Amino acid sequence: MSTAYPITEHSYDALVVGAGGAGLRAAVGMVEAGLKVACVTKVYPTRSHTVAAQGGINAALGNMNEDDWRFHMYDTVKGSDWLGDQDAIEYMTRNAPASVIELEHYGVPFSRTKEGKIYQRAFGGQSVGFGKSQAYRTCAAADRTGHVILHTLYQQALKNKVQFFSEFFALDLLMDDEGACRGIIAMDIADGSIHRFRSQLTCLATGGYGRVYFSATSAHTCTGDGNAMVLRAGLPLQDMEFVQFHPSGIYGAGCLITEGARGEGGYLTNSEGERFMERYAPSAKDLASRDVVSRAMTIEINEGRGVGEHKDHIHLHLEHLDPKILHERLPGISETAKVFAGVDVTKQPIPVVPTCHYNMGGIPTNWRTEVVTRKGDDPDVPVPGLMAVGEAACTSVHGANRLGGNSLIDLVVFGRAAAHRAAELVTPGASHRPLPKDNADPALDRLDRVRNAAGSARVGDVRLAMQRTMQRHAAVFREGPILDEGCVKIVEVATQLADLRVDDRSKVWNSDVVEALELQNLMMQAVATMESARFRTESRGAHAREDYPERDDENWMKHTIIWVDERHRSTISDRPVHLNTLSNEVETVKPAKRVY
Ligand code: FUM
Repeated sequence: MSTAYPITEHSYDALVVGAGGAGLRAAVGMVEAGLKVACVTKVYPTRSHTVAAQGGINAALGNMNEDDWRFHMYDTVKGSDWLGDQDAIEYMTRNAPASVIELEHYGVPFSRTKEGKIYQRAFGGQSVGFGKSQAYRTCAAADRTGHVILHTLYQQALKNKVQFFSEFFALDLLMDDEGACRGIIAMDIADGSIHRFRSQLTCLATGGYGRVYFSATSAHTCTGDGNAMVLRAGLPLQDMEFVQFHPSGIYGAGCLITEGARGEGGYLTNSEGERFMERYAPSAKDLASRDVVSRAMTIEINEGRGVGEHKDHIHLHLEHLDPKILHERLPGISETAKVFAGVDVTKQPIPVVPTCHYNMGGIPTNWRTEVVTRKGDDPDVPVPGLMAVGEAACTSVHGANRLGGNSLIDLVVFGRAAAHRAAELVTPGASHRPLPKDNADPALDRLDRVRNAAGSARVGDVRLAMQRTMQRHAAVFREGPILDEGCVKIVEVATQLADLRVDDRSKVWNSDVVEALELQNLMMQAVATMESARFRTESRGAHAREDYPERDDENWMKHTIIWVDERHRSTISDRPVHLNTLSNEVETVKPAKRVY
């Protein structure tokens, strides 16, 4: 039985949880559609992790060379290793140019070509002519593209009077007896007060869960809170085994050095000074798809050709580039390399290592951003009142491996799509359906247990044990026995959650409470990732099994869906990949061997 916390009631047409690029774009569009919209976010909006995106946003504008959204679609399907849903990929790539122009009109200060067009750089896995030559498709604002997009969208949200509840931690979804989402229950982090948000439609834009790993480019706030809320609501997550390791995280610090560094002409070498990517990807070389580059780097290190005292990283060279290019196009990473690696990029290589960067998996949705679940034989049944966008969602446009620059475009295209769908589904000002009487009890009971946790395990220690387990058992290369052991170990670590000690029980500033709640969220996703990785006995995209080195389309061209309960027990099933396209302007990209 829950402690009787006083609850402040709020009522909206639509609710967006999270204020990164996807959440803000959705919220702006929903207000434009005449809805009363609240945005509930655990960090101040301009601190959302979109701010850290560097290299750019993909759209076939054709400002630097010939381009076509169909080339973008082909590259994205190939990049996804044919696990992406082709209807959603068509929707994203076709709508990408208009979405970027819209950002330009909102005020995003893109870098410019001499002619004044939006500057576009080369990124990995991109081609012109269905694989013929390198494309220049990634629209950039120096190496601070996410920063300027986030700030611009926040300004638009303020202008449109989106109502923000900043530094509110969403505890759980409010589900009714018919399985529809009717809002959320949340805590104001500053004073611990409890708030119930009723809404016709809830759009989760809560980001990824990169912090399940020890070394990640993700902010410490990337704890996949929406994903965990979905699991606790008895709904599944999808494709959780697919975790992207970015080739260039700074060795030791994990900070991102943009792929744009290689797009501007940077290259990788091993301890023999060899540009080894020429062996692994003879055409694309350092601009092969991320999973390919990260695996090549890991093989070089494992075979003794890593650099440094412990031969455990790789060098990224920019010293040969014109300092003017570094200054104009890559100012942020020049500074990051100085601060976090003590390296002057005009003179020395940057020490880098593959680092957890992005979660392809998440909350399954259709291309309209409605959350879907399997019911009996139907794998695509929308959950009424619930949407997901951005890294939290698995739409699935990235399939088994996301291309660089496709994450920002995913945010804005599907943020916009969520607003379009909300406008179709929600009647402004409609009254709310009654909620079950005890709707908030499970969340408040859980909060109560955390607030009063007087066990012996420190949150930081349990989190570290989880992160080390994930890094050891489910990183760039995976193998059956190591995954079997990982599945046992991660549940052992999870049992420590029952013995947590949480110190700041003053209920005045709830940082320890929030860290404990975030750890609960992370742990469910750690289990989902480890179990899904064990389940998929093939290699595809970012999921590289040493014991099953080939892609197996006959048995595995399907999405994994997994349910994990609060006792960390999991159930796995699958869902077909959508090979159909939306229109007859483009054909399905037929499966083929993926070479770069
Ligand atoms: O390398 C980068 O700039 C990252 C971009 C991305 O993940 O899309």
